[in-house]
Amino acid sequence: MDQAGTLRTISNQKKGDEGPKKQVKVIAVTSGKGGVGKTNVVANLAYTLSVLNRKKVMILDADLGLGNLDILLGLAPEYNLSDVLEGRKNIREIVLEGPGGIKILPAGSGIQAITELGRADKANLLTQIDELEEEIDFLFIDTAAGISSNVMFFNVAAQEILVVASPEPTSITDAYALMKVLSQEYAENHFKLLVNSVKNEAEAKAVYKKLCTVADRFLNISIDYFGFVVSDPVVTRAVLQQKAVTESFPGSPASLCFRRMACRLSDSSEPVTAGGNVQFFWKRIFQMV
Ligand SMILES: Nc1ncnc2c1ncn2[C@@H]1O[C@H](COP(=O)(O)OP(=O)(O)OP(=O)(O)O)[C@@H](O)[C@H]1O
Ligand SMILES: [Mg+2]
Repeated sequence: MDQAGTLRTISNQKKGDEGPKKQVKVIAVTSGKGGVGKTNVVANLAYTLSVLNRKKVMILDADLGLGNLDILLGLAPEYNLSDVLEGRKNIREIVLEGPGGIKILPAGSGIQAITELGRADKANLLTQIDELEEEIDFLFIDTAAGISSNVMFFNVAAQEILVVASPEPTSITDAYALMKVLSQEYAENHFKLLVNSVKNEAEAKAVYKKLCTVADRFLNISIDYFGFVVSDPVVTRAVLQQKAVTESFPGSPASLCFRRMACRLSDSSEPVTAGGNVQFFWKRIFQMV
């Protein structure tokens, strides 16, 4: 069975679990190319939404093999997702309290055993995440780089796919390749684009335009412009301090970019729309409808 078929099967297993529950916005942050700023984007949007916008935010570190969100935020998790997947702990027992009250589900760094989840593991993980829904408004999924099946899995499962790209040509072509695979093999046709490490918004808009021009020509997808983050040396300084830049340097240019995007996310009244089978599935999981 192909990956999309597997997801559809898990979806069918979950049907019938619905109930009138709160909405949780589930946003997968992904990029194709590594090192373009996904983890920083996730950590800083989460921190800002939590502290300034008073939202309840959780991050799932879905970089199962090489997760480093905990390191970025100076946390030392005792347990991780592998303890859940191997039945030693439940998900509540591994949730870490991060800066600003954000909750973090840590992945096990370097644990090869869980880099390729089987179908039962996936269903188990999603069921347990479902139990936490009342406690969160936003769930960010920090995906690994690349286009492996697990990256695809988390992207397909999320309500929104936020693609992070930088102005480097390799980042733009990898972002395009990722959207192409998600569109052609998983019927995911809507994306948001965040352009990181730019000089200014004009540069971000130029990257957006470039991607849209190629996508319009060769793919049947829509890309919404989500925002930009300037290239700012304090981001690296904050990383060295193992803190979110929005916590360490709240008045910095990069932090202002995050604040702008967090406000838009917080105020957003976008309707929850039913997509294909798998989108439908995720909405059931997180009781968004
Ligand atoms: N806006 C920015 N300005 C300056 N430096 C940045 C910015 N965003 C990210 N960086 C630098 O890029 C590095 C990589 O960022 P990050 O770890 O968030 O990328 P990633 O996409 O999550 O990487 P991976 O694919 O390995 O998970 C950071 O440690 C930081 O030094
Ligand atoms: Mg990362």
